[in-house]
Amino acid sequence: MNQDLYIHGLSKTFGHMTALHETNLVVRRGQFTTLLGPSGCGKTTLLRMIAGLETPDTGTITMGEEVLFSAERKKDIPAHLRHFGMVFQDFALWPHMTVFENVAFGLRAGKHGKGPGSGSGRGKELRIAVLEALDKVRLSGMEDRYPHQLSGGQQQRVAFARAVAIRPRLVLFDEPLSALDAVLREEMRIEMLSLVRDLGLTALYVTHDQIEAMSMSDEVVVMRSGHILQTGTPEIIYGRPSHPEVARFIGKSNWLEPERTLFRPEHVRWEQDQVDQHSFTVEIRHISYVGDRYEIRIRAENGELWTAYHSTRLPIGEQKQIWVSPQHIHQLDS
Ligand SMILES: Nc1ncnc2c1ncn2[C@@H]1O[C@H](COP(=O)(O)OP(=O)(O)OP(=O)(O)O)[C@@H](O)[C@H]1O
Ligand SMILES: [Mg+2]
Repeated sequence: MNQDLYIHGLSKTFGHMTALHETNLVVRRGQFTTLLGPSGCGKTTLLRMIAGLETPDTGTITMGEEVLFSAERKKDIPAHLRHFGMVFQDFALWPHMTVFENVAFGLRAGKHGKGPGSGSGRGKELRIAVLEALDKVRLSGMEDRYPHQLSGGQQQRVAFARAVAIRPRLVLFDEPLSALDAVLREEMRIEMLSLVRDLGLTALYVTHDQIEAMSMSDEVVVMRSGHILQTGTPEIIYGRPSHPEVARFIGKSNWLEPERTLFRPEHVRWEQDQVDQHSFTVEIRHISYVGDRYEIRIRAENGELWTAYHSTRLPIGEQKQIWVSPQHIHQLDS
């Protein structure tokens, strides 16, 4: 059965503010797709429309053959019948409910479907489903606690358990890790991704954090000002950006020709190691030690400031020769 999600011509305007211009997107079944872009670019608006929490002005949303939304045909399947799971930035747990009740609530809300919360004999089935979901997120034994008795990471795992207990055909994540500190965020990133993979879920994930997007995704969708700028694997987005904004937003760019031709810092060679390499004279301008290497800002002859990496400290003000292989020089589409 085709369970890919198709977005076609979807748009949304609030008053005079167009949050999302007409947008097309495909979310492939079993893949981890991420919407990446700066604050206000329309990520949450797009996600909420897919969830059924916001009504689009134009366009269609279909999953396989099933139409979930069509502006033209005035069709709008309510959120709880779309059979999607959601995980929010603030976890959105109910403070007066225990961990068990929070997860069970998700199952009861989805009882219209074929999930384990439906039909007779529900009590026992429900209990098994909840305990199973909690076991998956390593929270067995904590089912009687209240959210305020849990750490941020544990709360987020409850939110995840609640979202996946219904066996959703798509899980929507809106910046689920941004309330956590940096160390926990990295741990949870790995944990959440392995859970999504183990459960064979299809995920649509929203973040403004490029590291998160690059490290977790099969497909990255780069957005800005209510538009999709580029869609592709993390490798394509980083190595072959199609738009200057994409190049600038993801990683560091060394511009040979502003807005048109670039190479990445890790491709700078301090000695020639290939015959056809391009050579540039640069001046060492600034050095930051970042633990495993020195990050060096260099001034190019075209006036641009570039970044390069070196294993030792170099003298500021010194002129140096660098080399870059032609295959690492990338020309943007005009
Ligand atoms: N309910 C609303 N009423 C009016 N304007 C809205 C509403 N929801 C969103 N907007 C506006 O639409 C634009 C896109 O908002 P959205 O929340 O989708 O951005 P975002 O990419 O999720 O940003 P962030 O990273 O800050 O969460 C913003 O300019 C926002 O102010
Ligand atoms: Mg948002």
